[in-house]
Formats: sequence, structure tokens, C-alpha cells
Amino acid sequence: MQIIRSLADLPDFRALGGSVGLVPTMGALHDGHGSLISLAREDNDVVVVSDFVNPLQFGEEDDYVNYPRDLDADAELAQRYGADYLFAPAVEDMYPGGTPQISVTTGTMGTVLEGASRPGHFDGVATVVTKLFTLIHPHRAYFGEKDAQQLAIIRRLVTDLNLDVEVVAAPIVRAPDGLAESSRNQRLSPAERDAALVLPQALRLLADGSSVDEARALIDANANVELDYLVVVDPADFGETTKRPALALGALRVGPVRLIDNLRLG
Ligand code: PAJ
Repeated sequence: MQIIRSLADLPDFRALGGSVGLVPTMGALHDGHGSLISLAREDNDVVVVSDFVNPLQFGEEDDYVNYPRDLDADAELAQRYGADYLFAPAVEDMYPGGTPQISVTTGTMGTVLEGASRPGHFDGVATVVTKLFTLIHPHRAYFGEKDAQQLAIIRRLVTDLNLDVEVVAAPIVRAPDGLAESSRNQRLSPAERDAALVLPQALRLLADGSSVDEARALIDANANVELDYLVVVDPADFGETTKRPALALGALRVGPVRLIDNLRLG
């Protein structure tokens, strides 16, 4: 596997022959990312993993500064799952003039739920993903259902801007205790991690037929977590719904981090 640290060193991946698969990440790679890399490996001749903590999508300075970074560990995991290239550019290389003048805005889909709690977040995601598509020019790009709203926005980005890439979705990878794998889990103490388990448990209650109020009560009963939202939405537009099938989405704060998770209902 080859590590590429600058835009100038990017090869013309399509010229290598065959199909090119891209797995966009912010590093601190775990088995959730690994599942995307495996899928890309099955489908493509060339597999590129991008590893870039994108400042544009962070609201809280703290979260950006404290976001875990470990290129050596990332390179080991990406190689183990079958990546050919790890693209890890510097911020100054991706954004030479600082915040770009021209960027992508995501509309209503980007302002509800995660977008309401993190203003500008999805605009930052859509902008960097558009840049990565332009730089890597993949035939296929892989995204996790863990970030369900992000996945829906990326699909819409590709449709609305006629981007020449196929979006492939991968299921959520969970640890044996049920917590969805996340780079931010590294920052949880054992007690905080234990408390965080109410999020998948509350989603499970909803899947088993409990009401949203009952599932919220489970979370509210835990003094160590602060619920941001727990809702059941129509996956088409992320509006709240009582119909099934639907998607249950939750976000909560525990210790120093904010975690999200979701589960399909019906
Ligand atoms: P990051 O949080 O590193 O996630 C990269 C990809 O891995 C996303 O598509 C995410 O949904 C997927 N992923 C994370 N945890 C997962 C899990 N437990 N199971 C399955 N997939 C999982 O999402 C981003 O980075 C950024 O917003 C990015 C798209 C790279 C733009 O900067």
C-alpha cells in the first residue's frame, strides 16, 4: 500500500486501468471503516482510502483539535483490509486559502437533526466529498449507514450535481456490546462507554415496538448522558413519521463526546 501526502503526488487512478473505489474517512480507522474498505476491495481494481480530518465540518474547535489522529495505525488497518492507496493530505494542501470562497450548501436536509445540532456540518461534508471526488475521480464511493443523514445527503449531492460516481452504502458495524464503532469511542472512559450503551438500547426498544416517549425515558433515566434527539423519521426526507418502515435516529452527549446511532424499524 502506498501513502500519498500531497495533492501533487496523486496519480491518475483511472489511468491505472479497471475500476476505482474510494472510501472517504477522517482517520482513526476502526472495523467500521474496515468493512467499507473490504466492500471496495471486492468491487474494484484500485482501492483508495482518504484520511483527512476536515476542518470545514467541525463546529466545535475542541472536537476538531481533540479528534484522534494516528497515521501509522490507519496505514496498518487500511492495508490489512486491502487498500492500495491511503491519501492523507495536509489541511493547507486541501484548503490553501483557508476556508474556500466557493462551497456546497445542503439545503433543508442539511439543517435538520445532525444539521440543527451542528450548523454548517453537512455543508463542510458535501464540500470536502465533492473535492475528493474531483481529486480521486472514483467510479464508486463507499459510505456507512452509521451516518444515515450524511449518506442521504451524499446521494442527493451526486444526483443534484450530476457527479459521475456510484454511491455504495454499508451496514453499521457494532462492537460486541452493541455500541456502534466510532472514532470518538476512543475518547470514552470505561464508565462513559457503559453509559453510552443506552443509545443502541433505546433504538432497540423502538424496533421492538415501544413508543418514542418510552425510549427517551430510558435515556433520560441515565444521569451520565445528555440526550440530544431520539426520533423516528421517513428515510426519504428525514421528516418525523409514525409510518413503517422508518428509521430511528438518536444522538447523545456522554463525557467529552457526542455519539450518533440509528436502526431501521419495520
Ligand atoms: P468518518 O467518521 O471517518 O467515517 C468514514 C465513513 O465510515 C463514513 O461513511 C461512516 O458512515 C463510516 N463508518 C463510521 N463508523 C461506521 C460503523 N460503525 N459502521 C459502518 N460504517 C461506519 O464520515 C466521515 O468520516 C466524514 O464526514 C467524511 C465522509 C470522510 C467527510 O469528511
